Amino acid sequence: MIYEIRTYGDPVLRNKNEDVKKIDDNIREILDNMVETMREISGIGLAAPQAGINLRLFVVEAEEGVVKKVINPEFIEYSKEIIDYEEGCLSVPGIHKKVKRPESLKVKYLNEKGEKVEEELDNLWARAFQHENDHLEGILFVDKIAPVAKRLVSKKLLNMKKETLKKIGK
Ligand code: NI
Repeated sequence: MIYEIRTYGDPVLRNKNEDVKKIDDNIREILDNMVETMREISGIGLAAPQAGINLRLFVVEAEEGVVKKVINPEFIEYSKEIIDYEEGCLSVPGIHKKVKRPESLKVKYLNEKGEKVEEELDNLWARAFQHENDHLEGILFVDKIAPVAKRLVSKKLLNMKKETLKKIGK
């Protein structure tokens, strides 16, 4: 099943996301649907709130054919090296801006079998994990762009928010 992507201005993107308490077929189905949705729209990552689900889940495919399904992530260490790199987001269509983030990190999470995974990630994997994890904190990449860049897109964001609120009937 393909989810409808929630867009900028939708309160579901700012809600609190709950830890997954039990990894069952329902959760595995959500993760499969998220992967299907991400691939349908050629994304490299998708977090549950973007599908209207306020749970601590995301999926990332930073290399073609390699999918990571991430449950209750916890970042335990960041590199000191910071990289400024252009990002976009399926929930903020049409906007691409640079965001500063640590180059690499260590993360702990549960996979879809409920197994504990601990990994060191760098490059696009580290970038995508941080972007998706921000979604679980109700943070969007446009919250983190430089003030000058933010001013350049502020009108676009305002219009996007209006369109979103109209679409969801608020
Ligand atoms: Ni995003």
